[in-house]
Amino acid sequence: MRKKIIAGNWKMNKLPNETINFIEELAPLVKSTQNEVILCVPYTDLFYALLTAQNTNIKIGAQNMHFEESGAYTGEISAKMLKAINVEYVIIGHSERRQYFKETDETVNKKVKAAFQNGLKPIVCVGETLEQREAQKTEEIITNQTELALEGLTDEQVKNTIIAYEPIWAIGTGKTATKEDANNSIKAIRNKIAKNYGQKVANSVIIQYGGSVKSTNAKELFEMSDIDGGLVGGASLKVDEFSKIVNFENNNSNN
Ligand code: PGA
Repeated sequence: MRKKIIAGNWKMNKLPNETINFIEELAPLVKSTQNEVILCVPYTDLFYALLTAQNTNIKIGAQNMHFEESGAYTGEISAKMLKAINVEYVIIGHSERRQYFKETDETVNKKVKAAFQNGLKPIVCVGETLEQREAQKTEEIITNQTELALEGLTDEQVKNTIIAYEPIWAIGTGKTATKEDANNSIKAIRNKIAKNYGQKVANSVIIQYGGSVKSTNAKELFEMSDIDGGLVGGASLKVDEFSKIVNFENNNSNN
């Protein structure tokens, strides 16, 4: 049985004092969950988040990194730097990074490899645009993105990669994929992994859904056969809402 992993993606939000307060309030609300809880915070909050999350079951991740280890890359942060302060996870290839910062499948692959070389666990984002969806290209796009992101990894590394399927039209829009559509897309990603790395590897890869996840839809999504939790943006900024998503099993499905 795969576990469920619920990761918050704060994007460019929250200051250190807000980070400390948030984690202090969240910790008791999620302490009994069986699900894994991750908060991916801005670089400037990482250190405070890591200190505050000590002795809790909340894990901390970054939202991006450079693929080089060090050098003349003004403004960039490397996997080695993240690892040095005990960051465990890093989001790679979020659609906002692909769209606004010109990240490509090739840089995503380089970053995934650099993350593993430095002992970080990558959360790799894939997803189709509305245009691609309407042209019936969803499956082709997301399986290609997955294949290219994982190219050259060992079976063990693939097993330790978290994939977040995030249809771009559902991010921050309040529109969510239906649970069936999300599950089918995730199945397609899993089948591609099975084809390239074998069924055993594919069965153990965590594949999340992301895109307007909230406390009122988390349960129906996360209970689907292939959806192993979620990557949550807007709804991860409020303690109460995020704790309900982490504890989704306790939510009434119709509230
Ligand atoms: P959203 O963002 O939950 O606000 O739609 C998800 C994401 O971008 O990871």
